[in-house]
Amino acid sequence: MKNIYSNIFKVNNKNLSKAINFLKKKELIGVPTETVYGLAGNAYSSKAVKKIYILKKRPLKNPLIIHYDNLEKLKRDVDLNKNFLKLYKKFSPGPITFVLKKKKNSLLSNISTSKLNTVAVRFSKNNTLRKILKSLNFPLAIPSANKSSHISPVSAEDVSQEFKSSVKIILNGGPCKIGLESTVVDLTSKPRILRPGLIGHTAISRALNIKIKINHRWSKIIKAPGMLKRHYSPGIPMKLNQKKAKNNEAFIVFGKKYKKGKNIFNLSYRSNLNEAAKNLYKTLRFIKNKNYKMIYVCSIPQTGIGLAINDRLTRAAN
Ligand code: TXA
Ligand code: MG
Repeated sequence: MKNIYSNIFKVNNKNLSKAINFLKKKELIGVPTETVYGLAGNAYSSKAVKKIYILKKRPLKNPLIIHYDNLEKLKRDVDLNKNFLKLYKKFSPGPITFVLKKKKNSLLSNISTSKLNTVAVRFSKNNTLRKILKSLNFPLAIPSANKSSHISPVSAEDVSQEFKSSVKIILNGGPCKIGLESTVVDLTSKPRILRPGLIGHTAISRALNIKIKINHRWSKIIKAPGMLKRHYSPGIPMKLNQKKAKNNEAFIVFGKKYKKGKNIFNLSYRSNLNEAAKNLYKTLRFIKNKNYKMIYVCSIPQTGIGLAINDRLTRAAN
C-alpha cells in the first residue's frame, strides 16, 4: 500500500528550495503556521489561486487570507492606516489577520479576494513560512489546509489526510502551537472583530485605546464572507453544553472534575484554555476517525481563548 504520508517533507534547505520552486511554478504546497496548517499558492496568480478553491471545494465568494513577510511588500497591495500600524507593531508577526482596503493597482489575483475592495492580510510567526515568503517576490494566499467546512488541520499528517496525493509537498513543522485560526479584525472602518482567536478583544481594545464590543454571536456578523454558519465540522452530530454523554458516544470535556474513561476526551485536565484550544481540532479529528456517531461536549468557560473555542464548537455543531 502506498504510504499516505509520502507527500510530507521535513524542513531542510533542500526541501525548502523544492517548495519554493513549486510555488514559483504556480503549484500549491502545505505549510505550517503557528495557528493551523495552510494550503499556500501565489496570490498574484489566478491560476494558482483557482487551484486552491478547487482543491478545497471552497465557494468563490469566500476570500483568502494573504500572507506577507514585511510591510514594504504589503504596501504594494493595500492602504495602511493608523489602527493597523498600532496592532501590527504590537501583535505581528503572530496570530492576527487584518482586513484593509485594497489598492486599485494591487497585483493580487481578483479571485483571491473574491473581487472585494478589501483584503485580509497576515504575518505569520512561523519561521519556515517566513523563510519561504522572504525568498519570493509575491505574497502567498493561504487558507487553512482543509476541505471547505471541515475540521482545520493542526499537523502535517492532517493535511495529508485531507488532500491525499493532490498536494505534492507538505512541509512538516510539527504540531501547531496555537491550534485555532487567527483573530480576524476589520480595520476598514470602526475596528471590529470578525473571527475570535487567541488575541482577544481586550488586548486589541487596549492596543487601540478604544472599546471594541464583545459580540457573543459572531455568526450574526456576516461581514466576513467566510463566516459560514457551519464550519470546522467533523461531519458527526454534536451536542454542546452537556453534563454527560450517552453510552458509547464521545464526550469532550475540560478540567479534572471529569473522570478518565474510554470515550472521554479531556481537552485540558489542568483547565488551561490555551491547552484546550491546541487540543480541540486534534480531538475532533481523532473522534471522527474512530467512527463515533455522536459527540457530546461539556460547557467551556467563555473567557480568553474560550470565546474562540466556543465559536468554533458552535459552528462545528451547526
Ligand atoms: O490562522 C489563520 O488565519 C489560518 C492560517 C493558515 O493563516 N488561515 C485561515 O484562513 O484560517 P481561512 O481561509 O480558513 O479563513 C479566512 C477567513 C475567512 O473567514 C474569510 O471569509 C475571512 O478570513 N476573510 C478573508 N478576506 C476577507 C475580507 N476581505 N473581509 C472579511 N473577511 C475576510
Ligand atoms: Mg478555514
